Amino acid sequence: MRARDVEAALDRLLPEAAVQEQKLWRAMRYACLDGGKRLRPFLVVEAASLFGVRRQQALRAAAAMEMVHCCSLVFDDLPALDDDKLRRGRPACHVVFGEATAILTAASLLMLAFEVLADPATHPDAEVRIGLIDALAKAAGPRNMAAGQAIDLAFEHKPVDVRMIERMQGLKTGALFASCAEIGAILGKADANARESLVAFGRAIGCAFQIADDLLDREGDRKTMGKETGKDAAAGKATLVQALGCDQARREAERMIGKALVSLEGFGGSAHRLRDLAQFVISRNT
Ligand code: IPE
Ligand code: IPE
Ligand code: MG
Ligand code: MG
Ligand code: MG
Repeated sequence: MRARDVEAALDRLLPEAAVQEQKLWRAMRYACLDGGKRLRPFLVVEAASLFGVRRQQALRAAAAMEMVHCCSLVFDDLPALDDDKLRRGRPACHVVFGEATAILTAASLLMLAFEVLADPATHPDAEVRIGLIDALAKAAGPRNMAAGQAIDLAFEHKPVDVRMIERMQGLKTGALFASCAEIGAILGKADANARESLVAFGRAIGCAFQIADDLLDREGDRKTMGKETGKDAAAGKATLVQALGCDQARREAERMIGKALVSLEGFGGSAHRLRDLAQFVISRNT
């Protein structure tokens, strides 16, 4: 799968609207198009391909999951959350369109993602579609991502132990990665074992991904990252980097990737793209 396939799918699913609601749709397009590493859609498409789902067929569900991710970024950057002004090398959504539109944009992207998953064009089998919707609802809602974000804010400037930080990261970031892998499995009607293995893989790389993000906040540069760096310490964020130091946090991320790779053992050589993704998560500089 290539990033430009995701871009094209998102472009189709986010039409320019005429009339009064034009600003909302423009903001939704701004938040989704032309940027980002597209790791979550890649995970959907490559997980599905393990079960013979053609990449083109998985793209709608993949684009829906990217919308959810973009929704989370728009919320995350709001002044009431991380108060960030730069995202993907451009002004954050709320800087360009205002806070009110940014809030509506994030909520709309989440709802549109559900609409896409519920559409028979995504999968002809209604049971599969219910499975997709269920997986997303659980991952993005108050049991996982939203809870993780709430805890992230509650932990600011507090002494927090490593266990609690790991739990928070699993919720705010691990769960969406896990659900992307799961959605691939659901599209491919995978059996329970394969599905569980992919969920474990997604969660582990998601947790490693957040540690890498926290390391890059400490060690990376603004220009390469396309977002401000050095902000976690200033905001008093509870991260493994702050709790353990860079070297040990890096080792922890590597350990998670090792765990992720073990989850893929049953898939043999066909999972090589997922293995590459796991390596990328900790070797990246962007
Ligand atoms: C950033 O995610 C938010 C985190 C969970 C750390 P990405 O680094 O995947 O963001 P984009 O999509 O590439 O901009
Ligand atoms: C964001 O974590 C997690 C979610 C968006 C759910 P961060 O706050 O560390 O992400 P960045 O660094 O702003 O991209
Ligand atoms: Mg945040
Ligand atoms: Mg942030
Ligand atoms: Mg960060």
